[in-house]
Amino acid sequence: MRLTLRVWRQKNDRSPGAMKEYPVDGVSPDMSFLEMLDTLNERLTLEGEEPIAFDHDCREGICGACSLVINGDAHGPERTTACQLHMRSFRDGDTVDVEPWRAAAFPVVRDLVVDRSAFDRIIQAGGYVSVPTGAAPEAHATPVPKAAADAAFEHAECIGCGACVAACPNGSAMLFTSAKVNHLNVLPQGAPERETRVLDMVAQMDAEGFGGCTLTGECATACPKGIPLTSITSMNKEWLRANRKVSRD
Ligand code: SF4
Ligand code: FES
Repeated sequence: MRLTLRVWRQKNDRSPGAMKEYPVDGVSPDMSFLEMLDTLNERLTLEGEEPIAFDHDCREGICGACSLVINGDAHGPERTTACQLHMRSFRDGDTVDVEPWRAAAFPVVRDLVVDRSAFDRIIQAGGYVSVPTGAAPEAHATPVPKAAADAAFEHAECIGCGACVAACPNGSAMLFTSAKVNHLNVLPQGAPERETRVLDMVAQMDAEGFGGCTLTGECATACPKGIPLTSITSMNKEWLRANRKVSRD
């Protein structure tokens, strides 16, 4: 296939960026989107032009590093990560726009790379459980109800990619934060920090400059791991419960 790519190029966080056009020939339908970018970068390097900077690591949909807005959609036209998107999703002759995540709390570092350290700070605010020192506890010492294990697993699927933020018209991080809060709050091991976790993580999310949630649902539509919108309502319930408990105590 022959495609025309229009790619966001930006030297650093202080310089203005612009879309730049690149024709790309010989694209196989079996290539991943990132492999297609690799071939373009090899050509740019040989021609003496700076290769396009983009984030990637596992290339198998588990690390959350890849972060491209493709033709206006976070991760592109399929419900998967950009590294798992294949060129068979495009047609010969297509023009494809490639941009970075666009959100106030995710400033562009260079080209298609954005700074997602705000997510790390939300995790640091409460995404952990207390583990007493001493001998390892007996296996199954803490029984976990099947329903709680299933709910925790569903929320633990969040890979922290940030597509939910990029897709949200408000630049909200509610889906990500709710996945991380609910993952631990439904488990008995997460009970000691149940209230502080949700209060501190939501406070950090607000401090990072993410927008508020107006339940447009774009986040859940873009999420490659299927984190449901009900995750946000569960977190809101947890937040109200924690506020009531803290004001009572
Ligand atoms: S909730 Fe989904 S879209 Fe958001 S960071 Fe987690 S995996 Fe990515
Ligand atoms: S590179 Fe790891 S999820 Fe895409």
